[in-house]
Amino acid sequence: MNETIQKNLKYKKYVVDSNLQYFKPHSTKIEKTFADEISFSLNRNSKFINPKYFYDKKGSELFEKICSLPEYYLTRTEIDILKNLHSNLSEYLDDSFRLVELGSGSSVKTRLILDVLGEIQNKIEYFPIDISEILTESSELLQRDYDDLHITGIIDTYEGGLEFIEKYDDKKNLIIFLGSSFGNFTTDEGKIFLQKINSIMKKEDLFLIGLDLVKEKKILENAYNDSQGITAKFNLNVLSRINDELDADFILNNFKHVAKYNEKEQRIEMYLQSLVHQSVIISKANLSLKLKQGELIHTEHSHKYTIPQIQELMKITGFEIKQKWLDIHKHYSLTLASKK
Ligand code: AVI
Repeated sequence: MNETIQKNLKYKKYVVDSNLQYFKPHSTKIEKTFADEISFSLNRNSKFINPKYFYDKKGSELFEKICSLPEYYLTRTEIDILKNLHSNLSEYLDDSFRLVELGSGSSVKTRLILDVLGEIQNKIEYFPIDISEILTESSELLQRDYDDLHITGIIDTYEGGLEFIEKYDDKKNLIIFLGSSFGNFTTDEGKIFLQKINSIMKKEDLFLIGLDLVKEKKILENAYNDSQGITAKFNLNVLSRINDELDADFILNNFKHVAKYNEKEQRIEMYLQSLVHQSVIISKANLSLKLKQGELIHTEHSHKYTIPQIQELMKITGFEIKQKWLDIHKHYSLTLASKK
């Protein structure tokens, strides 16, 4: 038994070939099931559905479409910044860094960072962490295009994956968390998450985070109310998922997609609004749901930040900012930090 396995007994190792392996936990963790969570979150006065449930196969495809919508400036702006930070980022790296990505990411962004590493390394190591097995598909695609890429995928929660990395070995890590996914956490969850990342980092490790910035309300609201209605489909798809997986009878036409910017809380708030007074049965959650006309089901928060807020957030969670990069319109930010 090699050392890796000894240190990570919780995980089963799957070796595809000499450049590609995966680790997956033996199912030891007791996670709440979808049915349990839905029966809690819809059986209360202020109803909500956790945004993590957006991402079934259809939802993930719709999200990919959102990323290339003209109104959804986030993805292309982040890609532009990544293209420009190239030589600047490599100043902080050497041939002993490996890339760790939280969320397996759109391959475009991962590739831009791999290209930076490729210029200073002969052999690149990439550790994507994702709860979804989709990770295996994106890894295989990447492997086809990079000869010297060694991928170790960790199919687990972010927290589980981070603990895995901490125990794995002493190599330096460049941990990336892109796409403003951090904005979907609540403020408290977000702080705990950053502290978790910080707690597993070594002094020499680096952390790169992409965050969306506060800007004109119109630009923000358009990004979440696109003219082709893709974001509306993405939001409504969570009801189809509940219908399919929890044996429910939501009628999608009885709901409307709502996304508005809350200036005080600095976040886009997404809801599904009931257009009529209605009852819905969700068999596998043992729930008979009554909705009033106009009632809102909360589905997502997407927080936006100012630069001073990012500085403060990083400081209180134990980071020291090395550098930040913005696009010319100051719509989006990338921040590179180390452990204080
Ligand atoms: C994944 N996340 C960063 C997206 C966002 O912008 O908050 C999810 C999304 N929701 C609607 N459009 C995109």
